[in-house]
Amino acid sequence: MALSTPLRQQLEAAARAVSERAYCPYSQFRVGAAILTGDDAIFTGCNVENASYGLTICAERNAVFAAASHGMTHVRAVVIYTPTPHPTAPCGACRQVINEFGPDAEIISICDSDEVLHTTLDILLPDAFGPKNLG
Ligand code: THU
Repeated sequence: MALSTPLRQQLEAAARAVSERAYCPYSQFRVGAAILTGDDAIFTGCNVENASYGLTICAERNAVFAAASHGMTHVRAVVIYTPTPHPTAPCGACRQVINEFGPDAEIISICDSDEVLHTTLDILLPDAFGPKNLG
């Protein structure tokens, strides 16, 4: 079911707000993500970089892991905010992690212009490997 306007606005505000907490001294690229769970709860995450660059974690994965740590089992939607002129789609690793809990999730990327990327995980990650493959 498509997101209601108030829920979408809440998710957008949450993604913008959490992007302020991004720890990104190396890339200076702030990202905020907000997840809507199957219970209509909202969890957020920002990117957290590391001096050992490869240990950096993206905003989307931090949001999914925070939600899972609180018992979430279904991701309905993910909103991603970047303070850029164009929207940013989730990276490949984050697509795979979102797939674990939300193969049908709506993915909405917003930015500092009116441009929006509104898509679904099955478009971003077709023929995905996931829990269904294991039984
Ligand atoms: N990043 C995210 O948080 N999400 C994405 O989908 C793309 C990339 C972060 C990782 C790193 O801290 C910075 O953006 C530059 O790649």
